[in-house]
Amino acid sequence: MASPPPFLYPLLILIISFLWQASAIQLPSTNGARYLGNFWSSSKTLPLVGKSKAPKYEYETKYFQQKLDHFSFADLPSFQQRYLINTQHWVGPSRLGPIFLYCGNEGDIEWFAANTGFVWEIAPRFGALVIFPEHRYYGESMPYGSKEEAYKNATTLSYLTAEQALADFAVLITELKRNLSAQACPVVLFGGSYGGMLAAWMRLKYPHISIGALASSAPILQFEDLVPPETFYNIVSNDFKRESMSCFNIIKESWDVINSVGQINGGLAQLTKTFHLCRKLESVDGLSNWLESAYSYLAMANYPYPTGFLMPLPGSPIKEVCRKIDGLPDGASVLQRIFEGINVYYNYTGKVDCFNLDDDPHGMSGWDWQACTEMVMPMASNKTTSMFPEFYYDPKLNEEQCLKDFHVKPRPTWITTAFGGHAFKSALKAFGSNIIFSNGLLDPWSGGSVLEDVSETIVALITEKGAHHLDLRAATAEDPDWLLEQRSSEIKLIRGWLDKYYDEKKATFSM
Ligand SMILES: *[C@@H]1O[C@H](CO)[C@@H](O)[C@H](O)[C@H]1NC(C)=O
Ligand SMILES: *[C@@H]1O[C@H](CO)[C@@H](O)[C@H](O)[C@H]1NC(C)=O
Ligand SMILES: *[C@@H]1O[C@H](CO)[C@@H](O)[C@H](O)[C@H]1NC(C)=O
Ligand SMILES: *[C@@H]1O[C@H](CO)[C@@H](O)[C@H](O)[C@H]1NC(C)=O
Repeated sequence: MASPPPFLYPLLILIISFLWQASAIQLPSTNGARYLGNFWSSSKTLPLVGKSKAPKYEYETKYFQQKLDHFSFADLPSFQQRYLINTQHWVGPSRLGPIFLYCGNEGDIEWFAANTGFVWEIAPRFGALVIFPEHRYYGESMPYGSKEEAYKNATTLSYLTAEQALADFAVLITELKRNLSAQACPVVLFGGSYGGMLAAWMRLKYPHISIGALASSAPILQFEDLVPPETFYNIVSNDFKRESMSCFNIIKESWDVINSVGQINGGLAQLTKTFHLCRKLESVDGLSNWLESAYSYLAMANYPYPTGFLMPLPGSPIKEVCRKIDGLPDGASVLQRIFEGINVYYNYTGKVDCFNLDDDPHGMSGWDWQACTEMVMPMASNKTTSMFPEFYYDPKLNEEQCLKDFHVKPRPTWITTAFGGHAFKSALKAFGSNIIFSNGLLDPWSGGSVLEDVSETIVALITEKGAHHLDLRAATAEDPDWLLEQRSSEIKLIRGWLDKYYDEKKATFSM
């Protein structure tokens, strides 16, 4: 790898910003939907991290005129899709230089570019062109001229789908190759999280566009009943359990404690004080959701070295949280322990005066819309295995919530109909090739991804101690051996796809 940066920099990760409209009912204390929105949206994350701190990769920013609807012939306005491109290391069309395309996901593309160091770092040794197209309805790629117009209502939002995004990538790369006389140059797809899902789906739906895809932490099986709905929260819980059983138990116990304190006279004021909240707590749910989110993000960002996530975090942050929770002297209360633990996530810098639970509580984010239409990922928490409050998945409640928020009805079976899922393995084995599903098993999204080889060329690369698409991050001096190995396997596989492609080309030429 061309001189990896010798130090680590605080960067955010391209966390999947799944914001669940997760319909959930807490049993038995509250009625109605409470378990909502456990994921941050990237728009919310962006301003919190100094962009200047992100590693700078060199690229040109360009815009491409896209059709609003690839699947109808209605006369609709077009929009400008932003893409970032670097041709500096490209060996060019005459030598069939490869094209590395990162499938932009639910956020500003510059943010993903800044946090996908792996692609930038390996491009020179492959002589590759690098392109990062932005996903429609995110960043600057707004239909109808502005976010306000694009997000106006269910009609204007109706073109925000994965299918349209894939078609955008296909149209863009086809025209770009034509412009560069690079039609014969092989395209390799990359993506993390939802971007990884797009990379895998693109490889399946547009097999003629790319020769292979690296899909990192891509939960393409987190739909319908393909994996148990408890999967995500069970993995988060196990991440805590593996650090410390007592830590797990204290967190598990804490929800009831919070609820019962919340119910007594002056209880909310007491919780406000205990947790150093800026404003008086209005319901225990606000506090519970805030804690639940932190535990989930901690699991996704449970990286072996310090990172700046939504928050700056120490390496192995769950270990650190549990050290705090367990570390208070005997007699310390459950709530005191939880408070100490949560400080690791929300106040690692030690500079936070008070905690604000609801910065941007119901900001309409693109992912909310996607979760209310196609990206319906059932989630539940079962008391027997999870440290979270118990709740079950209720499609009815989910639908009601989506109708209320967006005037749209989710289609929970559409993704599996469009992209497959049932009989996924036999189907892919029969017709697919060249996909790497990389996962770290500490990542709660890994449970919805592909963890076993499907065929000789559709392979799973697993690290036991990895978290959310750790492999796509820039190299650091602290990368453990298992991470270096994972990345070097990826490079080897990609090299193999390219070699095969070139061999076949040569064979054709010499025929
Ligand atoms: C959505 O907004 C557009 C643009 O203002 C308008 O033309 C359309 O009638 C609206 N649709 C609905 C369902 O409100
Ligand atoms: C291809 O070239 C045309 C004509 O110069 C230009 O308008 C278009 O934006 C280019 N497309 C891409 C993807 O670069
Ligand atoms: C954040 O950490 C600092 C240093 O430990 C502490 O003084 C401060 O009270 C903490 N903030 C909150 C909101 O707890
Ligand atoms: C939790 O799991 C148990 C045993 O698998 C099951 O009987 C129970 O219904 C589950 N609870 C919820 C809320 O799904």
